[in-house]
Amino acid sequence: MPLLGVNIDHVATVRQARRTIEPDPIHAAVLAEMGGADAITVHLREDRRHIQDRDVRLLRDIVRVRLNLEMAVSDEITRIALSTLPDQATLVPERREEVTTEGGLDVITHAQRVRQCVDQLQGAGILVSLFIDPDLAQVEKAKQLGVEAVELHTGRYADAKTREEADIEFDRIREAGQFATAQGLLLNLGHGLTYRNVRRVVEIHGVHELNIGHSIVSHAVLVGFERAVREMKQLVTL
Ligand code: PXP
Repeated sequence: MPLLGVNIDHVATVRQARRTIEPDPIHAAVLAEMGGADAITVHLREDRRHIQDRDVRLLRDIVRVRLNLEMAVSDEITRIALSTLPDQATLVPERREEVTTEGGLDVITHAQRVRQCVDQLQGAGILVSLFIDPDLAQVEKAKQLGVEAVELHTGRYADAKTREEADIEFDRIREAGQFATAQGLLLNLGHGLTYRNVRRVVEIHGVHELNIGHSIVSHAVLVGFERAVREMKQLVTL
């Protein structure tokens, strides 16, 4: 049974829309843990679009499950990772040139930079995962780079418009996933997973962890909306 990593970036997206103090992703992390999250995931982007440095520092203190920091292969963010010491770092593409057509980090083209970053993180005791496309050559390179885990990009499966397209993308994930576990890599999956499409990927043999963000935050907004309005209505009712 896979573990669930909950990505709380978009709680911070709502906060940053007003550059204010709520909703605080720290509170969301606590609630996510109460809901059964096995890990809390945040992406400290170089442009600080959602998660801020302060969030990562505070999360490091209060998260009791594993803290997974998604990060670009960048000197600045690597320095922050080395001083904050998340349990895990997942290297993801941020700049266009780091993205393959499918959207994972191209660890073949950028092998040298990735290796440097991986070595630094692992030297500090941080478990490293590479967010790559479900592609055998990328998985093979990840293994050569000495990481403990890969996270296969499920976006094309999630975005498939027809059943046939979804089947093709699902088979790619399953095949690359089996190859990854056969290499002794931990197999994580993520991006675009929703309440509708997640059941199928759970069935893939050997999946270690799913990372899900947008769909959970979206659902939270809606399932909590009626109560939120009711509580405000009470306050404005004399
Ligand atoms: N995994 C990785 C590596 C990601 O970059 C993201 C998006 O930040 C996710 C998982 C979560 O994707 P989603 O928000 O679509 O669930």
